[in-house]
Amino acid sequence: WMAPLAAIAAAYLLGSISFAVIVSRAFGLADPRSYGSGNPGATNVLRSGRKAAALLTLLLDALKGVLPVLVLRGLAPELGEPVAAAVALAAFLGHLYPVFFGFQGGKGVATAAGAIFALNPVLGLATLASFAMVVGFTRFVSLGSMVAALFAPFYQLLIWGPGPLFLALLAMAFLLIWRHRSNIAKLRAGTEGRLGQKSVASR
Ligand code: G3P
Repeated sequence: WMAPLAAIAAAYLLGSISFAVIVSRAFGLADPRSYGSGNPGATNVLRSGRKAAALLTLLLDALKGVLPVLVLRGLAPELGEPVAAAVALAAFLGHLYPVFFGFQGGKGVATAAGAIFALNPVLGLATLASFAMVVGFTRFVSLGSMVAALFAPFYQLLIWGPGPLFLALLAMAFLLIWRHRSNIAKLRAGTEGRLGQKSVASR
């Protein structure tokens, strides 16, 4: 039981690194928690106008989901899918509730996407396609994220059946949508920002 616990703790700690904050600092940008949606995530960093910073945030936050799963499978394949699913969930939870940032984290979209791709690339592609479709039509990243997060466990259930991965995806979907409460309110009020719209206020 020591190895799974160590893997889960390591994934949580890695997830706790808020790359939106770190990358913004490195680029000399304002703290993403101080403008736009106030969310430390790639979508909000993009509102600073620095595309490279947003892209780097997206990639590094996604890597937090990818790495723990791949390292676990590489080093301890015998631990199997239940631990892989738990490790993915731990990285996601680290991003949402980071121990290094006063437990004030992001919404988990990039980290969940990375974890899903690492766990099951086919599921990753299906989920990404769902996201891209909604964002393509509406330009609302938040809406695409929530729809994709909801579809992921359904794809998993329909194609591969129930199991630990399905449960982890379901938990991620619930938490991800919970973290998008302010986006849901803004979508309903018609005040949600669209992809790439620069913003200095409108929290
Ligand atoms: O990256 C999370 C996205 O779904 C919403 O971010 O900044 O628009 O609240 P934001």
